[in-house]
Amino acid sequence: MEDEDGPEYGKPDFVLLDQVTMEDFMANLKLRFEKGRIYTYIGEVLVSVNPYKKLPLYGPEAIALYQGRELYERPPHLYAVANAAYKAMKRRSRDTCIVISGESGAGKTEASKHIMQYIAAVTNPSQRAEVERVKDILLNSTCVLEAFGNARTSRNHNSSRFGKYMDINFNFKGDPIGGHIHSYLLEKSRVLKQHVGERNFHSFYQLLRGSEEVLLQELALQRNPALYNFTRQGAGLNDLDSDERSHQEVIQAMKVIGFSPKEVASVYRILAAILHLGNIEFVEMEKEGPEKGTLTVTEEVLVDHVAKLTATPRDLVLRSLLARTVASGGRDLIEKGHSTAEACYARDACAKAIYQRLFEWIVNKINSVMEAQGRDPRRDGKDTVIGVLDIYGFEVFPVNSFEQFCINYCNEKLQQLFIQLVLKQEQEEYQREGITWQSITYFNNLAIVELVEQPRRGILAVLDEACSSAGTITDQIFLQTLDNHHRHHPHYASRQLCPTEKSMEFGRDFRIKHYAGNVTYSVEGFIDKNRDFLLQDFKRLLYSSTDPTLRAMWPDGQQDITEVTKRPLTAGTLFKNSMVALVENLASKEPFYVRCIKPNEDKVPGKLDEDHCQHQVVYLGLLENVRVRRAGFAFRQPYPRFLLRYKMTCEYTWPNHLLGSDRAAVSALLEQHGLQADVAFGHNKLFIRSPHTLVTLEQSRARLIPIIVLLLQKAWRGTLARQRCRRLRAIYTIMRCFRRHKVHTHLAEMQRFFQAARQPPLYGRDLTWPLVPTVLQPFQDICQMLFCRWRARQLVKNIPPSDMAQIKAKVAAMELLQGLRQDWGCQRAWMRDYLSSTTDNPTASGLFTQRLQTLREKDGFGTVLFSSHVRKVNRFHKCRNRALLLTDQHLYKLEPGRQYRVMRALPLREVTGVSVTSGQDQLVVLHAQGQDDLVVCLHRTQPELDNRVGELVGVLAAHCRGEGRALEVRVSDCITLSQRGARRLVSVAPKPEQLVPDFRCSRAGFTLLWPSR
Ligand SMILES: Nc1ncnc2c1ncn2[C@@H]1O[C@H](COP(=O)(O)OP(=O)(O)OP(=O)(O)O)[C@@H](O)[C@H]1O
Ligand SMILES: [Mg+2]
Repeated sequence: MEDEDGPEYGKPDFVLLDQVTMEDFMANLKLRFEKGRIYTYIGEVLVSVNPYKKLPLYGPEAIALYQGRELYERPPHLYAVANAAYKAMKRRSRDTCIVISGESGAGKTEASKHIMQYIAAVTNPSQRAEVERVKDILLNSTCVLEAFGNARTSRNHNSSRFGKYMDINFNFKGDPIGGHIHSYLLEKSRVLKQHVGERNFHSFYQLLRGSEEVLLQELALQRNPALYNFTRQGAGLNDLDSDERSHQEVIQAMKVIGFSPKEVASVYRILAAILHLGNIEFVEMEKEGPEKGTLTVTEEVLVDHVAKLTATPRDLVLRSLLARTVASGGRDLIEKGHSTAEACYARDACAKAIYQRLFEWIVNKINSVMEAQGRDPRRDGKDTVIGVLDIYGFEVFPVNSFEQFCINYCNEKLQQLFIQLVLKQEQEEYQREGITWQSITYFNNLAIVELVEQPRRGILAVLDEACSSAGTITDQIFLQTLDNHHRHHPHYASRQLCPTEKSMEFGRDFRIKHYAGNVTYSVEGFIDKNRDFLLQDFKRLLYSSTDPTLRAMWPDGQQDITEVTKRPLTAGTLFKNSMVALVENLASKEPFYVRCIKPNEDKVPGKLDEDHCQHQVVYLGLLENVRVRRAGFAFRQPYPRFLLRYKMTCEYTWPNHLLGSDRAAVSALLEQHGLQADVAFGHNKLFIRSPHTLVTLEQSRARLIPIIVLLLQKAWRGTLARQRCRRLRAIYTIMRCFRRHKVHTHLAEMQRFFQAARQPPLYGRDLTWPLVPTVLQPFQDICQMLFCRWRARQLVKNIPPSDMAQIKAKVAAMELLQGLRQDWGCQRAWMRDYLSSTTDNPTASGLFTQRLQTLREKDGFGTVLFSSHVRKVNRFHKCRNRALLLTDQHLYKLEPGRQYRVMRALPLREVTGVSVTSGQDQLVVLHAQGQDDLVVCLHRTQPELDNRVGELVGVLAAHCRGEGRALEVRVSDCITLSQRGARRLVSVAPKPEQLVPDFRCSRAGFTLLWPSR
């Protein structure tokens, strides 16, 4: 696609025409159409001519060309309008709408699809799953709705037979987060009958031609549409796309939208039921008898099919087809048989209603999955909306009925809205604001709108009146009433009023001079269609269905037949109300217009029928649109709002102006930009003539925004940092105070603790230390050490000097044996010299004392360290009773049997170590330098088996310590010793039956048999 088109492609905006005449307008339109330029602007309004062929104007590349651009930057395109609507919504947080209008086949539905594609393509850059889901539903909903709501007509092969207004909700980021579809008056009479060259809704042909054989069999259908009354007319006509392919697309789209497989199956069963219903015929019994004249169905199997497909009782289906239930006063019910005509009427009404309810159910289903959920404006910001309106276009057929009347009335309403917003309000606003303005005249279709919707006299009101009068009023009487009311109306005519008009039939037709041309309506069926009556029997029948999908479509079938209800609103009134609401809704949004033109009646590509187009240009009011636009202004805004948006672009207005009024400030701002020539100043609003000016302002604003954002960020970040700093300082102060408080409290507690610890005799042994704060842990460790020393001092201070030797020995023993030997006799008083004691050695203590005296004289020792009887074993495995004496000079082995004669004396200096076991036995091995190790077991003690090994080790170790040498003490249950260079092992075997300890030889050395009690 070209970025810019040269002059040979005509003017891209009709506003740029040299002269605003019909000839120039048409010439430009034709020139552009022939060059493949189907889009042209009138300001922001887009005029689109249906090319009837595929043009390379669409797709991702083209979308990229328009994304983020301004309207005039690129050649005219639907994408540009979609982009403008989207940007207006994002920039100003305004709801916008795109109104697409034009006659049937002008390309409205196609345009709406391109717009949706553009919006889907440019949103959700972050690919959020929820937004993607909404976009998928938005795009796929069109395909499903077209299948069920579009049909081939003589004017358009894919004509919308319902009106569609779709709201798309956006979040503050501009991503679509939900949507809602409003549908308007489906042309349901099409289900029953179509004009020559037309078809029923696409869905029927798609079902028959596209379904698999198995499904068709299940639905009792055959592939040929000519076999069914409802599809016979269009059986020979194919859809543009093949029905088979479309069918697959619809099924796929339904899946994406979220229809369950059960629901899809129900939908096709309902369609099949409608087809079977259409083939049901009635006859009156001719046989003589009581049943003569009663009505029956010609092919009962069709009733079976309908019952099966709708999951309703067969009898009830048949009864509902042949008779109706009437309440005859009170709660009495009578069944009243139909005539053939009544039965046909009831059958048709039922088929139409089923299809209509199915369509409405589909729309509701799509809405339910597309609804923006869980939105909270306080949390998520305000949602904004873009509405896209694609409604059935103005149409004229050889025979026009109630539906065409409604469709054309709808187009009148939209034209009225266009006039209101684009032509009328705009001019009125210029006048109100005091802008010099030359009024431009245009055709106002208000009179035609009023002809239709005026209360009491309007056509719809007269029709309602006719419907409410029970039974007697016919379509003809309705026509007469119309004639009476509108005899002099310039836009109304009938044969009665203009007998010369041969194109209208007497008593049947009336004509309205619509804004888009004359349309002759046949009143036949108007009353019926407006009343839109369906027997309660059918409603109850379908509500009784066991198919939950079908049942959900008929909630009113719940009502009891005898219940008296208010008369429901007529189809015409409902439609009128929905149109009024639609127009109100559109008027509340910022509108963008796409005006579609149909180039020829034959749907031929490349052909522009000038008369036909000119007619459309006239009735669409496009020329007036150009005139208003050329003289007018593209943009307006109240001064305060304008300032709010652009004040940063001027030094006089930023951040706030000091001028006399907002208007003066705006003027100063524009002067600074040199834009004052392109604007006009109203009383309250500024008017800007060309979009270019607005874009210049937008651009300079966009340049400044990052700087302002930075400024705001700077200020805010500074505020946050200062806040954080203040908080930190406060935290540190609190921490300091708290720590001081903890230290104070702890010290006070310590003081109390030490006070209590002074008490003798325990000196605080059982007191628990106060819990210490972490910061004081090292202090506490030192205190505990000092306290231990102090306490030891207190305890030692009171010990008499005579006990000191014992204490020292015990301390030495503790250091060497604590934890290694089970019991080392700490609790006992240590007597040392047991052999001199008369209690321990009653028989021979005298002899021992004499020997001691002799030795003292001979060897001159100072003190006795230890003495005891022992059992010893020597290297020849000989066991003997001996006595052991340790003095501060020697170790003596004595013979108790011979007055304690010395058997062996060893200088104590040569004793280098002692080995003992961890048990309770009294085994001691004394290791000596260069000598055999001495293996003994202390025995013959008082009390028996007294525990004295610890004492021996303690006194020896304390003595060695006093001499300043080390004594090696080993604790092991298998003691190694050496005798004459040979290594031996001694172990202990506890023996309960042993009376006194004794040694046995073992393979490795010796075993002490210890009497364990
Ligand atoms: N931009 C386009 N490019 C190619 N073909 C188009 C374009 N617009 C419309 N057409 C053709 O014109 C046909 C009719 O268009 P569309 O269905 O949009 O008309 P419509 O205005 O919606 O009519 P109706 O009021 O009957 O629904 C389309 O089926 C398509 O073949
Ligand atoms: Mg359409």
